[in-house]
Amino acid sequence: MDVESRIECALMSALVSSREPDCPPRLADAVQHAVFPGGARIRPKLCLAVAASCGASPSTALDAVAASLELLHCASLVHDDLPCFDNADLRRGRASVHKAFGERLAVLAGDALIVTAFSSLAEAGLPAERLPMVLATVGMAVGMPAGIVAGQAWECEDQLDLQAYQQAKTGALFAAACMAGAAAAGHPQPRAWATVGQCVGEAYQVFDDLRDVQGQVADIGKPVGRDQALGRPNVVHRRGVDGAHLYIGELMQQAVGSIPECVGKQALGLLIRAEVHKLVPKKDALHAA
Ligand code: IPE
Ligand code: IPE
Ligand code: MG
Ligand code: MG
Repeated sequence: MDVESRIECALMSALVSSREPDCPPRLADAVQHAVFPGGARIRPKLCLAVAASCGASPSTALDAVAASLELLHCASLVHDDLPCFDNADLRRGRASVHKAFGERLAVLAGDALIVTAFSSLAEAGLPAERLPMVLATVGMAVGMPAGIVAGQAWECEDQLDLQAYQQAKTGALFAAACMAGAAAAGHPQPRAWATVGQCVGEAYQVFDDLRDVQGQVADIGKPVGRDQALGRPNVVHRRGVDGAHLYIGELMQQAVGSIPECVGKQALGLLIRAEVHKLVPKKDALHAA
């Protein structure tokens, strides 16, 4: 099975509890709507690429770790779209969860996805000695002081540091994708993978900031111009379009330069470069703001 199919299968397995007869049907539907069909699935792909570069063979346990990161990402999008955050009616080209199911179910669907991410990790079938590190790593990425929750909370403060904000709201889960992939694969120093993930994640958020400024709703499937409208910090407002592209290049160099020693080091470096290059040429495809 290819990586994409493995990820979809692992996501379906993780959400099997939503299909049990005693689960409230609208909650089940809201959760499914949040996860399927997916977007880029970039975090689970990164996790599996790191595990492979550490020498691990494909397994359902690794797939479950990768899927848990995507569940947390989907939860963060459901909550991020709520009227009390970005008030976005569109996600992945269709109604956001609160638009389709109402705010109460959107809050609960996000909660359910977060809890399911951790219970699916516990049941992933990882070697017992690797599980605590994986759980702690993933927990750190979504909590305090510098995970997704903290990143979103910076929007509630009067002042923030743009880089710390982006690293928390986006970089932390990418860092966890790398560290958890390494830990699940039995790499001796999973924490050494944090920098590569942070850099890739920050580059991805800069790309997302570019999409917010220059993208078209029909192309990206979500509202544009929200950062300016909501007063959200955006790298393009700070550095300009060319500055943002240069910054993505710098972050990519830093990411590749910080890949720890592993059997697949060279191949992973090439993969990261190729993936980032796929983002950067889109500059010309994006319409001027
Ligand atoms: C969007 O993430 C939000 C950010 C943190 C940049 P993605 O662009 O990965 O969203 P999907 O999963 O592909 O829809
Ligand atoms: C979302 O950031 C980051 C999360 C942690 C959910 P944005 O608000 O910039 O992402 P989009 O543009 O809604 O996807
Ligand atoms: Mg937001
Ligand atoms: Mg948003």
